Amino acid sequence: MTPLIIANWKMHATIDETVKLLTEIRFSLNNPDGVEVVFAPPFTALYSAHIALQETNFKLAAQDLFWELEGPYTGEIAGSFLKDVGCHYVIVAHSERRRSFGETDEIANKKVRAALTQDLIPILCIGETDAERKSNQTMEVLQKQLKRDLQEIAMSDLKNFVVAYEPVWAIGTGNNATVEQVEEVHSFIRNTLAKMYDAPTASRIRIIYGGSVKGDNAFSLLHTKNVDGLLVGGASLIPEQFIKICQSKES
Ligand code: 13P
Repeated sequence: MTPLIIANWKMHATIDETVKLLTEIRFSLNNPDGVEVVFAPPFTALYSAHIALQETNFKLAAQDLFWELEGPYTGEIAGSFLKDVGCHYVIVAHSERRRSFGETDEIANKKVRAALTQDLIPILCIGETDAERKSNQTMEVLQKQLKRDLQEIAMSDLKNFVVAYEPVWAIGTGNNATVEQVEEVHSFIRNTLAKMYDAPTASRIRIIYGGSVKGDNAFSLLHTKNVDGLLVGGASLIPEQFIKICQSKES
């Protein structure tokens, strides 16, 4: 499976900053082989990013979508609009949305369905909090999230699907999960998906890790069993760091 490296810029980068960052990264990476690189700038910069990335192998993701297809939902963004600006992927239920905007597993499920309906590849984020890990609930929490977020999603819809394991305690803290923790959790996620669907389906789903990924830990994380890619926040806004992360499959 080609490793997937996703830059989640969160609420950073104007149009000018987006184009500048992409130009710098694109110049140094120049259509990398062996990894799929995806950028998720804010909604307002997606179209400019799409233009800046034309005739490259880089792809675009949105950071969120609304579950309805269209209608009187002031402020919301439909999946079809994301297709319209060139997105291939969409992040669903990032822990920042779960925590700050009250996104529940029910909402995550609706958003996964909406993404699939619009032919967008969902990047479904799951992860435990610090308190949940400390009280040994990690696997239970992840299993619950997977079951609820994928409720009544058919096996045939998971041909192209990404699960991002992002432990909440590792996001933006500088404390990445250890290789051992990541390996244990990713195997658990793969096995859970195999039980929910079947082994071939589970093996096709890319399970990526996010949480304080940087240039100097990307190599070991990316070479961990059952890690099919990385979801990068802060370090993806620093070109040298992100370039190093994208090159770490080879190094
Ligand atoms: P950081 O890489 O800044 O920890 O953020 C991770 C993340 O939330 C990516 O979606």
